[in-house]
Formats: sequence, structure tokens, C-alpha cells
Amino acid sequence: MLSDYSTLWLDEELREVKYIDQTALPGELRIKSTQNLDEMFGAIINLEVRGAPAIGVFSALSMYVLAVRIGGNNLHDFVKEYIRCSDYLQSARPTAVNLFWALNIMKKELERFTLHRFGAYLLDSRLEEIELDDELRGYIGNVLHRKAMEIYDHDIEVCRRIGENGLKIIKGGDRILTHCNAGSLCAVRYGTATAPIYLANENNMNISVYCSETRPLLQGARLTAYELRENGIKTTLLCDNMISSIMAEGRIDKVIVGCDRVAANGDTANKIGTSSLAIVAKYYNIPFYVCAPTSSIDLNIRCGDKILIEKRKEYEVTEMWYKERMAPKDIDVYNPAFDITSHELITAFITENGIAEGDFTQSLRVLVGGNENE
Ligand code: MRU
Repeated sequence: MLSDYSTLWLDEELREVKYIDQTALPGELRIKSTQNLDEMFGAIINLEVRGAPAIGVFSALSMYVLAVRIGGNNLHDFVKEYIRCSDYLQSARPTAVNLFWALNIMKKELERFTLHRFGAYLLDSRLEEIELDDELRGYIGNVLHRKAMEIYDHDIEVCRRIGENGLKIIKGGDRILTHCNAGSLCAVRYGTATAPIYLANENNMNISVYCSETRPLLQGARLTAYELRENGIKTTLLCDNMISSIMAEGRIDKVIVGCDRVAANGDTANKIGTSSLAIVAKYYNIPFYVCAPTSSIDLNIRCGDKILIEKRKEYEVTEMWYKERMAPKDIDVYNPAFDITSHELITAFITENGIAEGDFTQSLRVLVGGNENE
């Protein structure tokens, strides 16, 4: 049963990362484990682990698991290899900022250690003089373990608080539309957009959820529909092109989605299809909420057109989830994984530090200011 597991975790004894392989769902609840850089990279790029918060936490645990296995005679060699692994993982997916955020925190923690212990920044040539003995390895392992677990626990706590804050916008009997999977599978537990939904359900608020299938990779159909059903929530699946029709019939009260990166002005990158959903919601006067851990808010990016959008392989559109290829051979395919929803279409952001409304350039900055990891 899905609720028996977290999306991913650290096996302390074997010092490896374990995770639910999301490409096998909903048919099979397959648990995988890894200690290997190429496998970790593959797990992220092939969406075995996916969703902005989950890939951030996965990369932090991965860096600890890799660090305890890095060879080398001196600390400089160790740091060089650590940075190579970190940069490689970071290159797996470009849009979700959480990947960069978590890897950066882990790297800074390593630097905090080298500065405190040896008065040297990472890659300072003086680290060549320092032998990498078992005692030093032990210290570094402990430092990185502590930080990785902090990021892990932080994710659970952040999603719990997003749930509590998000509950304030939910009314009894609400019919909520969500897109892609911003559910428990996109984070360690609870998820972001689903965190208030789970709480509302626990409080017997008689809510129901509509999830759009989310072409081309079907995160809505395969993952969100599956996890909501498993958690006993009244769930209806619809194709992406049915959104206007169901809204026109007056059957949706609000939209709640997650996000991969939010620019300083509130423009939001999320799964492809989110921006058309927001445009249609605006037309029908339906409020549109984005659940965003503050780790997904990138104040370094002024507006959405500066966010790099991942383009994925053609076969995902033409064959991946079909029994056989469903489009002519050699047809040109356009397959961006995300789109940008203009801040003008967003009613509010629900973060772990509160709800941002009005002028997002101001209100998001205030909420991010409350993030201890920034
Ligand atoms: O390509 P994916 O499945 O990783 O895309 C995920 C999404 O777009 C989610 O909506 C987003 O990460 C929010 S999850 C909190």
C-alpha cells in the first residue's frame, strides 16, 4: 500500500537511497535502491523520482551516499570529486529550482566544514596537504548526513505547514481541480497541492478532486488519481482538453496546483498545461492557487521568461504510454515539460510561511525571508 512508504528515504544501514520508482505506478509499487551516481542521474532524468521537492531531497541524500564512497588520498581530491558528482546531478533537469537549492545547501555545508576545520574554501590548494584518513572521512560523513536529513525532515515539515495554511482556502463541499502530480509522490510525504486536500478530507469536509491526466507523461492519471484513491478521496479523472467543458458546467470551485520554480514577480513554471488551465480558470472566474514551498521560489529570477524550460524526448509524445506508436514516423514533435503561468492569473501562493496575495513581488519576498535555509 502506497501509504506504508515515504516517496524516498535513506537506508542508514546500507548507506543507500531507496525510492518508489514512479514510472512503474500505478501497476506496480516497485522500490529501488541506489549508491551509484549514474543510476541517481538516471532516476531523476527518467522521472523514477520526480516532482520538484522530491528531486531536491533525493539529490541531498544522494550526495551523502556518494560522499561516503568517494576515494582519494587528500581532501582536495575528495572535494573535486564531490563537486563533479554534484554538478552532474544538477544537470539532470533544468527547471525545478529545488534540485539546485538542495545541492547548493549540501555543498555549502561541506565548505562550512573545510573553513571551520582548515580555514580553507572548497578547492583551496592547501587542502592537498590534508590526508583523507578514516577519522576525517567520518567527520565529513557525519556533517553531510546531518544536513541531508535536515533537508529531508524540512520537506516533511514544509508540506505539513502548506497543508495547514492551504486548509484556510478550502470550504466544505469544494470541488477542486489539480494538474500533474503535486501529491505525496512529489515530495517525501503529503505533497504540496494535495497537503490541504488530505487535511480537508481528514476533517470530513466532503471535498472532491478532479485531476487532469497531464499529457504526455500522465502524472495526473498514473500518480495523482492513484494516490488520492488510495487515500480514500473522491476523485474523478479527466483529459486535459475537458477542462473548459467541466468549468463551463460550473462543476469546479477552485484550482490548486504545485510549481517547479516561481520567479520573484510570481510568474510560475509548472507542468505543461498549467498556463492554459489558469487562463481558462480566469475566464470562468475560478480562483487559481499555487502551493509553493519557499525552496521553489527563486528571487534571483525577476520574471518567468528567464526560467529555463526543459524540452524532453519526442517518443514521450508519440509512443511512451501507448501500446504502439500513435503518430507518423519522423513527425516533428514539440515537447516542453513545463510552461509559465503569468502571475496575473494566480489568486494566491500557499507556502509553509503563509499565504502570498496582492503584489507578489512584495508578498513572496516577505514569506521567503522567513525561510531558515535561505
Ligand atoms: O516532470 P515532473 O513530473 O517532475 O513535473 C512535476 C510538476 O510539474 C509538479 O507539478 C511540480 O513539480 C510540483 S510538485 C510540488
